[in-house]
Amino acid sequence: MTVADLPKIELHLHHEGAAPPEFIRQLAHEKRIDLSGIFKSDGSYDFRDFAHFLSVYEAACEVLKSPEDFRRLTLAILEESAANGVVYSETFLSPDFCGGGDVHAWRDYLNAIQDAADEAERKFDITLRGVVTCVRHFGPEQAKQSAYCAAETAGDWITGFGMGGNEGVGTQGDYKWAFECAREAGLRLTTHAGEFGGAESVRDAVRDLGVERVGHGVRAIEDDDLIRELVDREVTLEVCPGSNVVLGLFPDFAAHPIARLRDQGVNVTVSTDDPPFFHTTMRREYEMLHQAFCWDAEDFAALNDTALNAAFCDDDTRERVKKRLERT
Ligand code: HPA
Ligand code: ZN
Repeated sequence: MTVADLPKIELHLHHEGAAPPEFIRQLAHEKRIDLSGIFKSDGSYDFRDFAHFLSVYEAACEVLKSPEDFRRLTLAILEESAANGVVYSETFLSPDFCGGGDVHAWRDYLNAIQDAADEAERKFDITLRGVVTCVRHFGPEQAKQSAYCAAETAGDWITGFGMGGNEGVGTQGDYKWAFECAREAGLRLTTHAGEFGGAESVRDAVRDLGVERVGHGVRAIEDDDLIRELVDREVTLEVCPGSNVVLGLFPDFAAHPIARLRDQGVNVTVSTDDPPFFHTTMRREYEMLHQAFCWDAEDFAALNDTALNAAFCDDDTRERVKKRLERT
């Protein structure tokens, strides 16, 4: 058994970003939509940098039109995650791509996604929960719509609210209304920060939005005071090393700050972000971390512990997943 075979928990996965290129090509073919411009000749997604990645991502979303498309996508994602040893996963769902922010339409998409998640749980022994995310570069007004959708469907399955998209647009604080709306509905909070924004963006996320988790957050390594604040506040980082390397934040895994952040007491977890875009899987993330930092089964068990503690599910689900981890 290698470390790649260990069971895994994933907290940071963009639903549409987990769509295999073949899946998107098949839907494009069925709907007669020409998406040839977003693929390389080898069939993988083609993008130059983060801004271009976001536009290719949104182009791929053009073929994901109906609740049925999302049902099929959800099954495909969970089959792949389970094949990678993932036993519990949280996925980012954007009402912007599921009905355009309309609450009634959003409910239909969500029902289809949950149906598929139930089926996958029976077939593949993997549990999924949803985190509604607004898209930062769509602006604060659109974010309010996503927050309404999140608040209306908050419960056992939609357990969190967050924000993805282009960190260069506006400030975290511009989205405070949406985050407060979600918090009042009982949702747990996370936001992308400290990926392309610097340490200041992470500080704003925890102080202005009051999030308990941060997507990426790795630029905190540039600021010792902030690292102490993250430790004191017990903030958990959803670190996606393979994504960061492909997008050029760090030259390779060995240069990635995840191990240094962990050594300084920060709660770190590991996820894939948008796996086919970044040519990664959870198995590969584990293998690369083992190679770069000699992390062994004990280190990965501690990582799972941190992730399970920070998961936005209820305690019954947490216990169930814990048993699954012990069994596997
Ligand atoms: N980062 C930020 N926003 C996103 C991403 C990502 O990797 N994927 C989809 N939206
Ligand atoms: Zn992300």
